[in-house]
Amino acid sequence: MPPIKHYTPQSVTDAVLLQMRSTADERMKTIIESAIRHLHEFAREVNLTPAEWLKAIEFFTRVGKTCTATRQEFILLSDVIGLSTLVNTLHDSTAVETATATSLLGPFFREDAPALPLGEQISQADKSAAILLWGSVRSAAGKAIPNAKLMVWQTSSAGVYDLQEGDGSAIDYRGTFQADAEGRYHLRTVRPLGYFIPMDGPVGDLVRAQGREGCRPAHIHFLISAPGFRELVTALYFPGRYLETDVVFGASPQLVVKEQAADPAAPIQGLPSVRFDFILAREGSADHAGGRVGADPGKVASEA
Ligand code: BEZ
Ligand code: FE
Repeated sequence: MPPIKHYTPQSVTDAVLLQMRSTADERMKTIIESAIRHLHEFAREVNLTPAEWLKAIEFFTRVGKTCTATRQEFILLSDVIGLSTLVNTLHDSTAVETATATSLLGPFFREDAPALPLGEQISQADKSAAILLWGSVRSAAGKAIPNAKLMVWQTSSAGVYDLQEGDGSAIDYRGTFQADAEGRYHLRTVRPLGYFIPMDGPVGDLVRAQGREGCRPAHIHFLISAPGFRELVTALYFPGRYLETDVVFGASPQLVVKEQAADPAAPIQGLPSVRFDFILAREGSADHAGGRVGADPGKVASEA
């Protein structure tokens, strides 16, 4: 045992690291040691006061209390400070080959989106003008991936997810499709609208205090999977507001689509269409652990 010490702002960090050095799990030791070093350095850098640290603790307490079976405020916090995108891009860099750019899963994913036949309309309640989404799912070598599974979800043309309508139990603006034997998919939907992230909790208060708008650009989410390939979590973005100021740093230029008024190659004629060909990377050793920040909120948190 080292002798009892008088701690200074400098010496306390080493004392903590020394006491934690018996952590059995090597990866856990690396992560927590680094977190402690950076946290202590941050407190010294801003000369953090007790009142300020208590305010932060109150904030984190509110974040925890805001989590329910349908809401994960900690993931939302991770999203608005860019940590979800940072962690996702670190994971992306472990792919064995270049695939379609990824984007955030977000809090409105549901595992139970209904299976629909190719070409089906995913919007039930919203009867605004339909558009066609179509394209293919391919490997990095350009080979069709037969029968890939595509889970699709989006807002209505009013900018709300089904989970935000009524009591949140109706399933709408989402579906699960299977690409055909040549890796082709097509489905009908309505144009989504950009929207505010949930702003009625502590994360919304933070975003407002920072003078940020709290908006996401219009987009359609995709989760695409096929045996032997890394799961692709991405979204297609529509040109318009908030692309440059996306509050959760999800939009990226490769994912901005172009709508065609009449594309003779589209599998259904008479509708404006968006074509997007997705590329999946082959599975590698980094794919055995989960590869996305986010989840169906019902699977992460339960009501206290
Ligand atoms: C979304 O895309 O729906 C979303 C993503 C992150 C935070 C909030 C919303
Ligand atoms: Fe979204």
